[in-house]
Amino acid sequence: MAGSNKKDMNQNDVIDSAKAFFTSFGILFLVFLIALVGSIIFPPKHGEEANGGGAPTAQIDAAAVFKQNCASCHGQNLEGIAGPNLTKIGATLSADDISKIIKEGKGGMPPGLLKKQPEIQAVSQWLSEKK
Ligand code: HEC
Repeated sequence: MAGSNKKDMNQNDVIDSAKAFFTSFGILFLVFLIALVGSIIFPPKHGEEANGGGAPTAQIDAAAVFKQNCASCHGQNLEGIAGPNLTKIGATLSADDISKIIKEGKGGMPPGLLKKQPEIQAVSQWLSEKK
């Protein structure tokens, strides 16, 4: 009798670990699904703006970089949303001031939004001309 009891327990163990396996697999699968759906809804932008081909440093479309990295807070037309209106930012800040803000952040604006120095320069220059 004791022997068959032990066997039952072993079977339960097997069922338990199978459950645990499928539960963790289910979570993994869910994460995978979310990532998949995310990449379908927000496809990585490719070729849309850079239709001229790959010249990563020479010709930077500052307006496009801004739209991708800054417009969520400052608006597609610099009109301001969570961040301030930047339509006349060049009247108060120089390109150097702006690139410092992009690198170091300011108040509610996080630092390091742009990583590439040429992009920082292009966007700062472009914004400093908005007067
Ligand atoms: C998460 C939202 C957010 C994003 C993204 C963001 N900003 Fe800002 N930005 C802010 C906020 C909020 C302020 C106001 C900070 C303060 O004065 O306390 C600000 C301020 C600024 C200022 C100074 C404005 C002034 O009148 O002093 C500049 C310039 C600026 N942002 C440029 C950029 C650029 C360029 C990008 C993209 C690389 C960017 N921001 C992305 C939220 C954001």
